[in-house]
Amino acid sequence: MTILETVFLELRPFTIFNLTKLRFKSFARLWKHNGEAMSTEMPGPTFQLLSECRGIVLDIGPGSGEIMPHFNPTMIRALYGAEPAEDLHPGLRRKAQESGFGAKFHPLLCGAEPESLIPALHKSGILDLSGKDGLASEGVFDEICCVRVLCGVPHAEQTIKGLYNLLKPGGRMVVCEHVANPWRTEGRVTARFMQLVYTVLGWPFFMGGCELQRHTMGYLRDAGEWDKFDLKYYGPTDCIPFVVGELIKEAGSLEKSYAQAVKK
Ligand SMILES: C[S@@+](CC[C@H](N)C(=O)[O-])C[C@H]1O[C@@H](n2cnc3c(N)ncnc32)[C@H](O)[C@@H]1O
Repeated sequence: MTILETVFLELRPFTIFNLTKLRFKSFARLWKHNGEAMSTEMPGPTFQLLSECRGIVLDIGPGSGEIMPHFNPTMIRALYGAEPAEDLHPGLRRKAQESGFGAKFHPLLCGAEPESLIPALHKSGILDLSGKDGLASEGVFDEICCVRVLCGVPHAEQTIKGLYNLLKPGGRMVVCEHVANPWRTEGRVTARFMQLVYTVLGWPFFMGGCELQRHTMGYLRDAGEWDKFDLKYYGPTDCIPFVVGELIKEAGSLEKSYAQAVKK
């Protein structure tokens, strides 16, 4: 519905020819109306994990900053927000000011996928691309937050690997994501079936690219070496079950990757 509203109510018929732009515009419309109400409660220890973020932090898809008040600005040196929906940026900047981030907040108009995120980080000055393979192999962030966003990023496996590379060794990833129902273990087969039904009925199309059936936990596990991988299911028998928790990147992974590169 929001897609039709964007095209006809906002009188922007040509957006229909730019599907990515249309997707972000219609999602922004939906989120501006419902985002606040959809953010008062979060599964598991999400708010607690956010309140512990420190150092240089990257928030993936911050929307219009609904979760920002849960960060502690005194513990954060710089907060980068990678938000591709331009229409959400005014609200995001406002929320950053209200939450006490001031000049520490750096909004980036980009997605999480490396081809979009890496140039934006480079442009912002935080990422030096002159290193090995032109990649951020050493990692630049102490923390990366993925809250309700990995369901909609393109080529999720590659994108998550890219985020892993951007973490410093010993850095932490905070995760709160809805995923495919774990019907083989603690989930429920009917809920898994309903995910399929909703998908066939067009959930991703109407919900700005959000996919219900992602195996995000597996993608995160395979992204690289972790010293800590603590993700738990919340509402595992639901149609929209979440995984919430924290992952700590192996502290010695940098030395390891240099050693492997030297061996080759
Ligand atoms: C459901 S909202 C969640 C917002 C915020 N993280 C929260 O939990 O309150 C999903 C957000 O991800 C953004 N998004 C969509 N595609 C993205 C992408 N490829 N990379 C980064 N963010 C994306 C959307 O524009 C939206 O702001």
